[in-house]
Amino acid sequence: MRVLITGGAGFIGSHTCLALLEEGYEIVVIDSYINSNKKSLKRVVDIMKNNYSINKLDIAIVKVDIRDEKVLDKLFLEYIKLGKPIQAVIHFAGMKSVKESMLKPLFYWDVNVIGSINLLKVMDRYNCRTIVFSSSATIYGLSDGLPLKENTEIKPINPYGRNKFVTEQILNDTFNSNPEKWKIANLRYFNPIGAHYSGMIGEDPVGVPDNIFPYITQVAAGVLDKLNIFGNDWPTLDGTCVRDYIHVMDLAEGHLATLKYLNKGKNKIVNLNLGTGLGTSILELIDTFEKVNKLKIAKNFCSRRIGDSCTLIADNTLALSCLKWSPKRDLARMCLDGWKWQSLNPEGYK
Ligand code: UD1
Repeated sequence: MRVLITGGAGFIGSHTCLALLEEGYEIVVIDSYINSNKKSLKRVVDIMKNNYSINKLDIAIVKVDIRDEKVLDKLFLEYIKLGKPIQAVIHFAGMKSVKESMLKPLFYWDVNVIGSINLLKVMDRYNCRTIVFSSSATIYGLSDGLPLKENTEIKPINPYGRNKFVTEQILNDTFNSNPEKWKIANLRYFNPIGAHYSGMIGEDPVGVPDNIFPYITQVAAGVLDKLNIFGNDWPTLDGTCVRDYIHVMDLAEGHLATLKYLNKGKNKIVNLNLGTGLGTSILELIDTFEKVNKLKIAKNFCSRRIGDSCTLIADNTLALSCLKWSPKRDLARMCLDGWKWQSLNPEGYK
């Protein structure tokens, strides 16, 4: 099966490309490289070549910005003319920083929403109507439901969260316009961390990371001095925020399982939480990272970050039952693999 992966050079995208190639999928990867590095895809190819026979490798990589509908159109048409039509899309392409989305809302709406509309228009035009969309648990906003179910109230609190939710609504309207034709999954990710076990691909944030895990690995590597923990007065067991961290390879395999689920089942639209269902506080995360990697992380407490929720944990029962998938790698594995990537690549893909 030929699958288009938008934003395939990014953190979750590159790991998903690998998971699909390992299963023998033919993939066409597009990325604008605005916020990613093309070397990630070269590394994906290297991992495949190291581990499998070359026959297993069917990957095309094209620089495309999803805001350019004409180029997207040309790409779909080209594959039809080759007799190898694109049959499904996994749609990662988008900007993902909450902070930046507040500073540049129009840019975020343009890339994340207009880009998605362009993609859907072209998919519809060429009868490709299966899509897995990268949504986010961020759409639950300040809904502190424990654990969060897919039908928990959606209350995004920043432009990035609203972009994701509006795109889900656009997908919903698209499905309803032609329910006989579309197969759609909105995957709501919790907190993906870690890296492929090889340490060859991983998260490579531009500038100082906003997210906690790359911040921890950069402190461990000596790139950053110390971790600032945003608040120790939260109503949790140790006073620090609790999140549902999921290994990025488990998340990648979740995409594969979703694609299989959509392909074999009836036409549908489904929202699925992808998380482990387990909560970890910041201090527990640091403690595990220090223990498994035999390192110390310099840290201090500071005030709460605006817009943070206290506890975000997935109710993943729907994903477990629909997808016949479950996360396999524990927090220790996430910390080991994430540190392996950082220590082998102190400057990321540079
Ligand atoms: C954040 C985004 C979310 C996005 C997700 C992607 C916000 C408010 N939310 O989620 O929209 O989908 O990343 O992975 O930005 N922390 C520190 N020190 C740091 C960084 C973070 O203490 O230097 C704390 C935060 O306060 C939070 C926890 O670590 O309690 C996790 O933070 P982060 O990794 O940014 O993820 P989320 O906020 O859950």
